[in-house]
Amino acid sequence: MTAGELIKRKRDGGSLREDELRWLVNGYVRGSIPDYQMSAFLMACYFRGMNEEETLTFTKSMLYSGDIVDLSEIPGIKVDKHSTGGVGDKVSLILGPVVAACGVPVPMITGRGLGHTGGTLDKLESIPGFRTDLTIDDYKRVIKEIGLVMVGQTNQLVPADKKMYALRDVTATVDCVPLIAGSIMSKKLAEGIDALVLDVKTGRGAFMRTSQQAVELARTLVKIGNGFGKETIAFITDMDQPLGTTIGNWLEVVESVECLRGTRGRGDHSADLMAVTHVLAGAMLMLGRKVRTIAEGVERSKCAVENGTAYQKLLQLVEAQGGSLFAVENIENYSLPRHTFEVKASEGGYVGVIDPAEVGLVSIRLGGGRATMDDVIDPKAGIVLRKKVGDSVEAGDVLAVLHTDREEIIESARGRVQQAFAIHRKPPKHRPLILSYVDRGGVKTWM
Ligand code: URA
Repeated sequence: MTAGELIKRKRDGGSLREDELRWLVNGYVRGSIPDYQMSAFLMACYFRGMNEEETLTFTKSMLYSGDIVDLSEIPGIKVDKHSTGGVGDKVSLILGPVVAACGVPVPMITGRGLGHTGGTLDKLESIPGFRTDLTIDDYKRVIKEIGLVMVGQTNQLVPADKKMYALRDVTATVDCVPLIAGSIMSKKLAEGIDALVLDVKTGRGAFMRTSQQAVELARTLVKIGNGFGKETIAFITDMDQPLGTTIGNWLEVVESVECLRGTRGRGDHSADLMAVTHVLAGAMLMLGRKVRTIAEGVERSKCAVENGTAYQKLLQLVEAQGGSLFAVENIENYSLPRHTFEVKASEGGYVGVIDPAEVGLVSIRLGGGRATMDDVIDPKAGIVLRKKVGDSVEAGDVLAVLHTDREEIIESARGRVQQAFAIHRKPPKHRPLILSYVDRGGVKTWM
């Protein structure tokens, strides 16, 4: 077998057998298959796809590239959540502490920024000292002690996804159903969970642009999860504008902390973020058998924010993983980058669109993401939205504030963000945040 032959077969629309996919994935992890051949294979998959059997085999090959954590000694039903990727999507930072505070253990392996979307791992690492590369023993210790742990892929845990994820990020091979399925489900199945809630994003800022594509991805993920005996529910949620008000790693931590403290997230521009968070948390609490229905779970989730237990859980997590409690507890004093500059509306009307993919790409250019695998992120870089879709604006109103140390890109970033906002004469039509969900019974409409 040679990598070239397998790449050629996939390029020409053929399928690969189990032993062939396993050989490719293991070879890549060990280093006998170089980045350039894996990139070519991933691009062939992007254009040719994989059949159902290949997708499952690919997922298993990635899963078995490392260890699978056994959490059976930890009491309770362990439930995790994963998003297929959005802009301003900091739901996991809020929902992990909320669900753990309600008594359901949450073991989470998460990822870095991918394409134009942000990653929970980069956000967590923007907290000074926060460690995401725990050994399996430390991972188990933290979840045992506080009921919550958030780490990245390591050389022990899904090493295939660790390498492939970074490669896909910079080779335009992210938005492909079997590659996303393999990446997400290998991480989730390695964690030691009993059940899983997925947030499949759809819209301009998602990898699945249409709800039809999102449903296809959701069905694939749910089938794999249930096939492994993990009760899985996938929500299809809107990503037609950034969630909440911040895009960029540390800025998103700040917004999450404020939402967990209850000082933001109700009747303001972070309300969409909290609405999605509470529904997903509600579903996790139902799967964790703490409540009977998702609606009951939503109420529990709101309660955990209101009574402060969710915020306390975040502080426990930060402490347990070596992060600075001082930075989180004094978040309002966070240091700004060298430049902050405003983007203003050139005309009056209503915000009809904020193109999330464009905003995500600008945030990367400001220093918040990577253009190559070796790029170092500036945790402080990013964008704060002052207006959201549906708001009325006058000419000269501030639409957004951009944060960066890179003076040379200020003018182009300002122009791009201004273009990302479309100002219309009439208010836009309302778009629901949660469109539907998929469970073992099929696709269901959301109330
Ligand atoms: N999240 C992942 O973990 N992997 C993907 O491929 C996309 C989103």
